[in-house]
Amino acid sequence: MATAAARTRGLRKDRPQRLTHVVLNSHAVDETQRFLGEALGFTLADRTVAIAFMNCNSDHHTIAVGISDNDALNHIAFLMPDFESVMRGGGRMGDAGFPIQWGPGRHGPGNNLFNYFIDPFGVVIEYTAEVEQVDESYKPRGPEDWKWPPGRVDQWGISPPPGPVLKEAQKRVLFVPS
Ligand SMILES: [Fe+2]
Repeated sequence: MATAAARTRGLRKDRPQRLTHVVLNSHAVDETQRFLGEALGFTLADRTVAIAFMNCNSDHHTIAVGISDNDALNHIAFLMPDFESVMRGGGRMGDAGFPIQWGPGRHGPGNNLFNYFIDPFGVVIEYTAEVEQVDESYKPRGPEDWKWPPGRVDQWGISPPPGPVLKEAQKRVLFVPS
């Protein structure tokens, strides 16, 4: 029998449903992409100049590895049910003292909506929805296919690009002591 707390959670239609992806910083993206593919069985979805997007399910990317001068956790993304819940989540996080650091917007690879936050522990989290669903017929595209027009870093262009506070947080959670 469901507990009262579980029933309450079930009524929260705009809550996160599950993790959908993690993004890692790496000084060795090509090598890491190869390892993820050959040893762990991930499939390459798309490769931009900076980021290898890979998956192990129908989400466009389950893990992505981006070029960086350090090896760190860039962010983890929670799947929200829909557009509205990404927006309402942004409002709730702001009310709780953790305002949107980047967003709202819509990414290129994966076509997913986003709002980014820095959580109470300093970890960057993303609320996302409408993640592109792929199967074996999906054709990976390369850096020449993923180019933004000048001044754009997402499909809408209504939010400024990520600022220094978010960028610093995206390099702070290290895999090994610095
Ligand atoms: Fe993400």
